[in-house]
Amino acid sequence: MLRLNGQFNLNASVVCGDKSIAHRALIFASVADGTSVIGNMPLSADVLTTADCLRALGADIRFDGNTVTVEPIAEVKDNVTLNCANSGTTARLLAGLVAGLGVNATFIGDASLSKRPMDRVLQPLERMGAKFSKPKNCLFKCLGGTPLYGSTVYAAVDSAQVKSAVLIAGLFAEGSTTYVEKLSTRNHTELMLAALNANIKVDGQAVTVSKSRLLPIKTDIPCDVSSMSYIVAAAVITGKPFVCSNVLLNERRLGFVRVLQRAGADIKCIQEETRFGETVGSIIVKKDGFGAMYASAADVCDAIDEVPLLAALSVTMRGTHVFEGVGELRHKESDRIKAVLHMAAACGQKAEYANGRLIVVSNGVLEKNPRFCSFDDHRIAMCEVVLCIASGGGSVDRAPFDVSFPQFETALGLNIYRLGLIGGTDIRKSLSPLLMEYLSTVANVNCSYDLLVQPDGVTDERLLDIISRYDGLNVTMPYKMRVAQLLNADCLSVNTVGRNVVPQSTDGYGMVTALREMGVDFENKHLYVAGAGGAAALCVQTLLSYGCKIQIFNRTKRHADVLINKFNLSCNVSNPYGMLSFVPECDYEKSLPLPDSCKFVFTAAYKGTSGLKDKALARGITYVDGLRMLYHQGAKSFALWTDTALQDNYGGFAEFLRSVQFCFN
Ligand code: S3P
Repeated sequence: MLRLNGQFNLNASVVCGDKSIAHRALIFASVADGTSVIGNMPLSADVLTTADCLRALGADIRFDGNTVTVEPIAEVKDNVTLNCANSGTTARLLAGLVAGLGVNATFIGDASLSKRPMDRVLQPLERMGAKFSKPKNCLFKCLGGTPLYGSTVYAAVDSAQVKSAVLIAGLFAEGSTTYVEKLSTRNHTELMLAALNANIKVDGQAVTVSKSRLLPIKTDIPCDVSSMSYIVAAAVITGKPFVCSNVLLNERRLGFVRVLQRAGADIKCIQEETRFGETVGSIIVKKDGFGAMYASAADVCDAIDEVPLLAALSVTMRGTHVFEGVGELRHKESDRIKAVLHMAAACGQKAEYANGRLIVVSNGVLEKNPRFCSFDDHRIAMCEVVLCIASGGGSVDRAPFDVSFPQFETALGLNIYRLGLIGGTDIRKSLSPLLMEYLSTVANVNCSYDLLVQPDGVTDERLLDIISRYDGLNVTMPYKMRVAQLLNADCLSVNTVGRNVVPQSTDGYGMVTALREMGVDFENKHLYVAGAGGAAALCVQTLLSYGCKIQIFNRTKRHADVLINKFNLSCNVSNPYGMLSFVPECDYEKSLPLPDSCKFVFTAAYKGTSGLKDKALARGITYVDGLRMLYHQGAKSFALWTDTALQDNYGGFAEFLRSVQFCFN
């Protein structure tokens, strides 16, 4: 979860090299005649994925900051597994390379990539003589040992990735290979091959290549115009003027700028140099404002990754906006048509898609605090951040910016507190992300809150490494006690750790505050406590400090004995004043006793049914809900991490309940 208050600053200088060019530079450097040194290399996950795959094939690739040195493949490795993660460009371009190198390789990828079409690239390569199989659990296998023959391929889809795969394979084929496009797609492969002295000829929509020796690459990659587009977008909706230089200004990538300029936006591109065949220059935005947008199919081809952003911008602007030929968006990292329809709806606007045409109709008045789903797609998440800025605040469920633009948050000056929750698989059902979304809204700070599910057997080193990467983390079962020991905390179990925070538990505070709010006078009383885990132990310690006398109930006697011995608890407490339960919904919980002397019941579990709750309600005694404790312990953790005052408990539990009511309906 990422919650933003809508404030931002533009900082274009952090944008690194163009991702599309970076993939190609790494691939060509890996088969060039000599050592390449490439500057301004983006360190986005997709590019690092391509580097890893090329290493697996035998290239020696070394990063020194944003400069990368590539020693080409001396002896190509056979029978390798290439993990393409989330990157379609890696999978498709390397299909062409591996077919050309003639080795066996298994291509795998993440859940998103595994859903994306690969036949579009395998079929033309098969026409050239390559062989592939498609076993389960992988994207495809390239079966090596078959020579490639030049062929003429007519584009079945408008795709630079397919074109590039065919051209790369063509560098290794007998005879010449021609690829004929319908609409022109990005031409970085052609420009780079020409700059590397390859045998390549471009004639209108046709590109022809044949076997070539490639020069090594010595250049700096111009800055990524696709990443820059999010900054341009923030500038045109808010009027923050901005200039960026050293940006790629290839016409095939400027559809975004063109469509906005035609809609009246004040954006200028100034061409300054040609570098490695690519036009490089500056983009200047002076003021906000634009009108209705129209994008033809050719514009869309030149803005294929930016159409969702154009659509997001159109959502903010009163008018009817039309985008033609956008069907390909269904096959990106997510179904981006579905994502655009969702973005429009979340902002209270209308969007429709039929027969390749997308129409957005906006009244220009955005819903307050929109809540977005990113579909785990980096570009959709970035569009949604722009919409959060336009709406003056909102939230996005997941934000994998690192896939293409690791400096995104810095580029928009978002100042996000990185928060999260470490626990077992149960944390997928946790309400903490909703709570943190609420707290950051009322405290007016930006924060992200990640669910960090740890597998059984996670090492101490891994836990410490995760903790070091966050500004603040909650810790839940089964890690509360382990993390307390790892961090030498001076308490039994911790639920709150962070960069500037003493490791501690706010569970006790949460429970005490919840009890007090409900008017329970628990001090110096006899109490029954069910459970013997981390939260129970911590709360027992807290209750003892208030002079309570406690008897433990637990299904596993051994665990109860640990607590009893640790705190020297009595085994027989008479006439308890209340019952506090830290066990989840189960038959044991239902069988727990509730003596007549009890004046209240507290249950830490806030999901599922509870026998104790039913008994308390039936008897008409006070019932204290675990959600109330969750609220108070979370508010305290949040205050510690973000150094914000508790601000009257950030609006209070009742206000929080109202804000998340939709979850319980
Ligand atoms: C890319 C081409 C485009 C684009 C992708 C990068 C490339 O994909 O969406 O992000 O580097 O060639 P298609 O070729 O599938 O349109």
